[in-house]
Amino acid sequence: MGFAGRGERMMAARASAPGKIILVGEHAVVYGQPAIAVPLAAVQATVSAEPGEPGAGLLLRAADLGETLRADAIAEGDRLYDALVFPARLALEALGEPVPDMTLVVRSTIPVASGLGSGAAIAAAIIRAVCGAFGVTLPRERLNALVYEVERRHHGTPSGIDNTVIVYEQPVYFVRGAPLETFRIARPFTLLVADSGQPSPTRVAVQDVRTLYEQDRERYGAALAAIGAITRRARQAIETGQVDTLGALMRENQALLRELSVSSPALDRLCAAATEAGAWGAKLSGGGRGGNLIALTAADRVGAVSEALYAAGAVRVIATTVGAQD
Ligand code: MEV
Repeated sequence: MGFAGRGERMMAARASAPGKIILVGEHAVVYGQPAIAVPLAAVQATVSAEPGEPGAGLLLRAADLGETLRADAIAEGDRLYDALVFPARLALEALGEPVPDMTLVVRSTIPVASGLGSGAAIAAAIIRAVCGAFGVTLPRERLNALVYEVERRHHGTPSGIDNTVIVYEQPVYFVRGAPLETFRIARPFTLLVADSGQPSPTRVAVQDVRTLYEQDRERYGAALAAIGAITRRARQAIETGQVDTLGALMRENQALLRELSVSSPALDRLCAAATEAGAWGAKLSGGGRGGNLIALTAADRVGAVSEALYAAGAVRVIATTVGAQD
């Protein structure tokens, strides 16, 4: 089966992108402070670009839609436009191609609005798949810039950390506007990623922190700077293999995130349950208010801490080892 017209140059293509975890520094990173993030390969967005019938146009099929939609029938302003159509449009513009006869099949195991980078990963996978169908692999810098454009539609004022860690698929020490910086993980460490079951759009939490900051720059500016200092110490701890120190820094970071109003009773309960069960530290990860929490734990405490997280209300717990393949 081939593509019609110009589409004869096209081929079926498949691409994916991982989720992400912010270890320390979320929210402060929007204000120029550093943050540390790592890819989360346990969850992925995968997109297949498949040949379409001549004249079919661009069709979109997402696992959770249960139906195939024409891209030109999705209005700007619809969340599906931002999530699916806009990234495909950006890819076609980058290629200088008109809308092809193509079906994009989008699958994702990354829960939406949960702080794990679902929007950025789906956008990266769509752009890669569309470009792949034309035999093009975009340089990562270019892909990163395009996914950032999508993030701007989702979040308004994103720092760029989500698209960067997801596109480069490596641990990043991220400072807004600065060149990509990665770092050495001296000793692999285990994280439990626990879903609070409460979806929470990052945009709202980011806006609320902005409002607090505008109301009291001295107080909240100090909290954001303190988070930046924690991130710098966390990098040192990771580079020297001081895992228990990293845990203590995560606890300090969580207290400051609570002060910024982005924790929630459910997240606080999960953090307490994890540390009581022996985790070195626990904190929300991403925008907060809901979404996911991360708990840093010794490998032999994974079972006990997971059980405690489920008992405290987590709907899903994933164990991941950071730095294992480096
Ligand atoms: C979202 O994953 C991280 C935030 O810091 C927002 C951003 O950096 O754009 C909350």
